[in-house]
Amino acid sequence: MSSVHELIRGAAAREAAGSERPGRPASAPHRRPIALRTTGKVSACDTELASDPWAIDTKPGYGPGASVEDVIPGTAPRQGPLPERYTRASDEQLDEWITAAKAELGDRVRILGHFYQRDEIVKYADFVGDSFMLAQAAKQHPEAESFVFCGVHFMAETADILSGPDQSVILPNLAAGCSMADMATIEQVEACWNELTAALGPAAESDLQPVIPVTYMNSSAAIKAFCGRNGGIVCTSSNARTVLEWAFERGQRVVFFPDQHLGRNTAKAMGIPEELMPLWRPHLALGGNTAEQLRDSKVILWNGFCSVHKRFTVAQIEQARADYPGVRVIVHPECPAPVVEAADGAGSTEYIRKEVEAAEPGTVLAIGTEINLVNRLQQQRPDLTIFCLDPVVCPCSTMYRIHPAYLAWTLESLLAGQVPNQISVSESVAGDSRIALERMLAAKP
Ligand code: 13P
Ligand code: SF4
Repeated sequence: MSSVHELIRGAAAREAAGSERPGRPASAPHRRPIALRTTGKVSACDTELASDPWAIDTKPGYGPGASVEDVIPGTAPRQGPLPERYTRASDEQLDEWITAAKAELGDRVRILGHFYQRDEIVKYADFVGDSFMLAQAAKQHPEAESFVFCGVHFMAETADILSGPDQSVILPNLAAGCSMADMATIEQVEACWNELTAALGPAAESDLQPVIPVTYMNSSAAIKAFCGRNGGIVCTSSNARTVLEWAFERGQRVVFFPDQHLGRNTAKAMGIPEELMPLWRPHLALGGNTAEQLRDSKVILWNGFCSVHKRFTVAQIEQARADYPGVRVIVHPECPAPVVEAADGAGSTEYIRKEVEAAEPGTVLAIGTEINLVNRLQQQRPDLTIFCLDPVVCPCSTMYRIHPAYLAWTLESLLAGQVPNQISVSESVAGDSRIALERMLAAKP
């Protein structure tokens, strides 16, 4: 049987060959495929991955990719149609337009890109990073008039909150949300808080608050503001432990939104037993728990998850170890706890990047995170053998929505004096969110 590595490599080689695949749009003869497409032995999780984003932007749902099965809230932003100039352009034309517009805009515009963006976008980014680094970057460029945020909606909101009042933040495709962030609405979080605080009762003799709200960066600005107002804080996957330690200095327990896996993995690594981590299911009274379970708890976990990272399994790790004795397995902490425990290391996208950077030539690395980052790391280190644990090509469906056509449209609109797709958080929400974000930025290990 072919190894996972061979399967992924085979798909990449076939993509690079750019052969006459069926379904190539006649109007865009020079366009390269958006994501790795399947031929032969490698499969993708959704055949629609070969479609252009504007073909799917108007349809309900997150679109093809790992979160296709997730339920999209009716309030999620939708992208309007893109002018034909961009949808009919070839790769070469788009490249020319982006390069020219970027040169003319100069320092007025900074393009920020998350590690999960496609290479066709990353190549134009002034700064590429994990969600923590991108939040810092938005604070560190007062010279820029605009940030073009090649990432997802919650990241652009955070950049707007942390950047200056006269700076604008633009999300090139409004359909680039995050299904995990959408799994907790502010109404649900407020209802949870009211029930939870009533069930826990007032603080006893201790100076500690009964419960501290902690939200993962992957959440709406409204939830970050809720945490800011209620003595809470934001975390990212790169500082979750530091943030939980901060919270336990102030509270008896934590309620953690919205990623149960990051919350559980971090708390377990701190020695908190899983029995003290009840799951809060937003549609059930007391989240499906008894008041006693909540009073005995240390970390109450919101029932959210990432559909990309949920795909990784212990069986995939076992397969990788069988195929490559001595392989080093590293995963993102959004993976389920058994996967993180079976891996050799877990951390943010920047942690994964650094692990690859530091690897000795010849090392074999199996990685449990989004496919675009994994493939790029392999391209950057051809002296290593790097492969994605998941043999099925299944990118983050919302990160994937940022296509060069949207970037070209955004930059040319800026040149024409328009600010398209501006992400603007109202000051009433931004003020409290900033408190929670600044607490995170100040929290040191
Ligand atoms: P990082 O904070 O590691 O960049 O992760 C963000 C994310 O959305 C992972 O799915
Ligand atoms: Fe959201 Fe998962 Fe995509 Fe990250 S990878 S943006 S958590 S859906």
